[in-house]
Amino acid sequence: MDIPTKDRKILVTQALPYANAPLHLGHILEAVQTDIWTRYQNLNDNECHFFCADDTHGTPVMLRAKELGVTPENLIADVYQKHLDTYKKYNINFANFHSTHSNENKDFSEFIYNKAKSKGLISKSIIKQLYDEEESMFLSDRFVKGACPKCNSEDQYGDNCSKCGATYDVLEIKNPISTITNSKPITKESEHIFFDLAKQEKLLSNFLNDANLQKPVKNKLKEWLNDDLKKWDISRDKPYFGFEIPGEKDKYFYVWVDAPIGYLASIKNWADSNKIDSDKLLSKDSSFEMYHFIGKDISYFHGLFWPALLDAGDFKLPNGIFVHGFLTINGEKMSKSKGTGIMANEFADICDPETLRYYFAAKLNDKVEDIDLNFEDYVQRINSDLVGKYLNIASRSATFISKNENKLSMNIDDKVVNNLANQKNKLINLYETRNYSKLVRLIMEMADEVNKYINDNTPWKKELHEANVVATTALNSFFILTIYLKPILPKLTDKVCKFLNQDINSFDDVDKKLKNDINAYKPLLNRLEPIIIPEEKPMNESNNINIDQFAMVDLRVAKVLDASEVDGADKLLKLDLDVGDIGKKSVFAGIKSAYKPENLKGKLVILVNNLEPRKMKFGLSEGMVLASSNDDGVYLISPDEGALPGMKVK
Ligand code: MSP
Ligand code: ZN
Repeated sequence: MDIPTKDRKILVTQALPYANAPLHLGHILEAVQTDIWTRYQNLNDNECHFFCADDTHGTPVMLRAKELGVTPENLIADVYQKHLDTYKKYNINFANFHSTHSNENKDFSEFIYNKAKSKGLISKSIIKQLYDEEESMFLSDRFVKGACPKCNSEDQYGDNCSKCGATYDVLEIKNPISTITNSKPITKESEHIFFDLAKQEKLLSNFLNDANLQKPVKNKLKEWLNDDLKKWDISRDKPYFGFEIPGEKDKYFYVWVDAPIGYLASIKNWADSNKIDSDKLLSKDSSFEMYHFIGKDISYFHGLFWPALLDAGDFKLPNGIFVHGFLTINGEKMSKSKGTGIMANEFADICDPETLRYYFAAKLNDKVEDIDLNFEDYVQRINSDLVGKYLNIASRSATFISKNENKLSMNIDDKVVNNLANQKNKLINLYETRNYSKLVRLIMEMADEVNKYINDNTPWKKELHEANVVATTALNSFFILTIYLKPILPKLTDKVCKFLNQDINSFDDVDKKLKNDINAYKPLLNRLEPIIIPEEKPMNESNNINIDQFAMVDLRVAKVLDASEVDGADKLLKLDLDVGDIGKKSVFAGIKSAYKPENLKGKLVILVNNLEPRKMKFGLSEGMVLASSNDDGVYLISPDEGALPGMKVK
């Protein structure tokens, strides 16, 4: 077993999320995998920095902004803040989260392009594409639908048929329709700029041999490399939201050119603001290792295009690319209408994000396999592992120590503690190789051992002094488990450290013994309740509902009896409502930004009385109060004076 060495310097990235949508739990899976690895490296006395950015360019962002009636710049600024807030909730510890729409990125993109040009890697040729005359834009495959040229199935996308599986050129599709305007596109010529991948073949083949890649990924990339390497089309015509190609008119870099270059931009932006010479980080002779964490769908870009671009710019190539599979929820692809397309931001209000980090860790390994988040399994796992095994050690032991004024015993059973400390290198290895599921299992086996040690030594039958030896031994063991779990559970282990009056800076702290008095034990994690995520029912075609459907909504006048802030929720207030004959109800409402709790007492509001109660991590929400809102404010809807609590609203 090779023990990973210390004092390494490492730069780590995850794929840059697109700036046209909120983050979903698949994004969080990737972020958690990467964050755990970064934190592990630092705890193993290496210097490791985690970089990311928003991927802001391309047609979808441009169209989304248009749909919303804002500029792309406004859209990406808004999404940037939201993405950052969401990652923060999951304790993702970026050294820097930047944007591909930045000066650094523009400079790097132009620099690499110019170098590639001077090395003879750039050429031009005229291609034919479908063109939407109403929108005055060329259509990429995803914005074209039509009948399959092989089997004639209607309503197929521009490059492949979901019925017969055929792949084809978009120009072959029958009766094409632009999905943007529903108009019939014409065929039009345009000059495009190409990057000659074939000229980089030797370089890429060396890269695939040298880099740290998973076996199946390496094989797939080699297969692609041995197929004919086509010239890569790196330009897009206007209108396009992106960087203009230097020396050309109305030509933009294709988003996949400047997206990975965004890794470098994020690193440079960070280096500059920390007065570090970024050339030293990125040049061929850099003393830093570089690793990219990505999902399986973007292996081609990272395994072939990206090293080719880096080399063209004379930058250092990545030391490794780590590919994960896709997240499914309760065995299915994520989908809003099935209630499994849940957004990361909302999920953080239902469950403590630390518990999701733990669950993902318990499922992640070094394979490209898909990973399932099963809600039942999740709840069971958290309650049995974290609450029932790990934290149970602390709560049981603390009972005895508290009888001794929270003073620890001077003596402990060294053997028990040393057994756990001796597992350090094994765990470090599992972290290094991203076998998180194995290491979580190992840590829980250790927790079982400690609980068994307590059971076998029956401190409850012993006099205080002896009971304290058992409890102090168990707490020292608990401290070691806490060190092992720290990269996975940064917040929870911080709380444990406060309880133990101890801090953790390195895996070598497993050799430290607890010396200080401890603090009184308070439960550090609540058991999870079953998770229910509301389904989003698809609307019927006209978007109208009939009177019977409307009558199904039981709207009632309610009076605010009390309003209070909710610990840990930035946007919510808890409202206790009097609903007349129906009784009292509590709801959580996202109105904190607009209302002070004390001003709400006595106010009349409208309650959706028969809304399925929703379990949130703060408690049960038994309905919803009506409010109108836009980006600037929230306004509660109130009936006129004289209405009485419990009255039906029709
Ligand atoms: N913007 C590009 C990446 C550019 S990197 C230079 C992109 N964005 S994305 O938002 O679609 O995806 C970001 C990352 O999330 C990718 O690694 C992708 O594989 C990953 N995932 C997207 N859906 C996922 C799941 N359902 N499960 C796990 N990861 C998923 O691609
Ligand atoms: Zn077909």
